[in-house]
Amino acid sequence: MTARMIDGKACAQRLIAEIRERVSTRVASGRPAPGLAVILVGNNPASQIYVGNKRKLTDTTGLRSFSYDLAETTSQQELIALIDRLNADSAVNGILVQLPLPKHIDADSVTECIDPNKDVDGLHPYNMGRLLLKRPVLRPCTPQGCMVLLRSTGEDLVGKHAVVIGQSNIVGRPMALELLMARCTVTVCHSATRDLAGIVGTADILVAAMGKLRFVQGQWIKPGAIVIDVGTNRTPEGKLRGDVDFDAAKERAAWITSVPGGVGPMTVAMLLSNTLKAAEIQEGPVAVDASRSS
Ligand code: GUN
Repeated sequence: MTARMIDGKACAQRLIAEIRERVSTRVASGRPAPGLAVILVGNNPASQIYVGNKRKLTDTTGLRSFSYDLAETTSQQELIALIDRLNADSAVNGILVQLPLPKHIDADSVTECIDPNKDVDGLHPYNMGRLLLKRPVLRPCTPQGCMVLLRSTGEDLVGKHAVVIGQSNIVGRPMALELLMARCTVTVCHSATRDLAGIVGTADILVAAMGKLRFVQGQWIKPGAIVIDVGTNRTPEGKLRGDVDFDAAKERAAWITSVPGGVGPMTVAMLLSNTLKAAEIQEGPVAVDASRSS
């Protein structure tokens, strides 16, 4: 068997064309273009590339882009002061703080300061809680993008055994909740999991998000599985590759994503989609007040 490709780039381009159309309709009817503020702290080279892509695409979709590049030495207090200003700015509908942050800043505390209605990453406890309770509002971008890719196969997901490798707040945990909401039977594996290969061998759907270059071997894959590779690792030659040994896995899977060109472009498309959604939530009658209690 040679797997069919799940084309994340094409899927993202379709979504972005749709978003561009909706933004243009909004603007033509006299409403402002939704604004997205992207904050980068420090000089992490990978983050600089990701943030550059996010900002470029925000502009080309007709959304307003607000860029904040802060020094590595920025204090947590200074970062939170900026977020407070953006929370109060009606031209800013979405706020994204690129992760990871420098070690002296507590990312969870910073995330909790973002207005949940502007939390386009979907990582605020309010939005995570909504997802946990099967009533999602703003959903984490990468898992949401993976669900769009899974649905693009046309396969029925109900009752399938989905295995997620990785338990991060950004991908693994919300991914498991998304799959559960799609009525999959879900297993979450992590660094203390015993017999990972054996569990992967039972997966109808595999989402690899542990961040280890080509860790998942081809012979682990259940024949006919759908394989979604969230990994973004550099080879010693500097090439971008996933957590799955693609060449071997594609001989067993029915569907598979590539790295690059798979999940990555979908994450950015979902961010733009969330920004549009955030603007609509803020205009609507039921914007929540779940901001800091202190
Ligand atoms: N760093 C890597 N992925 C992400 C993401 O989806 N959101 C944020 N804020 N930072 C990231």
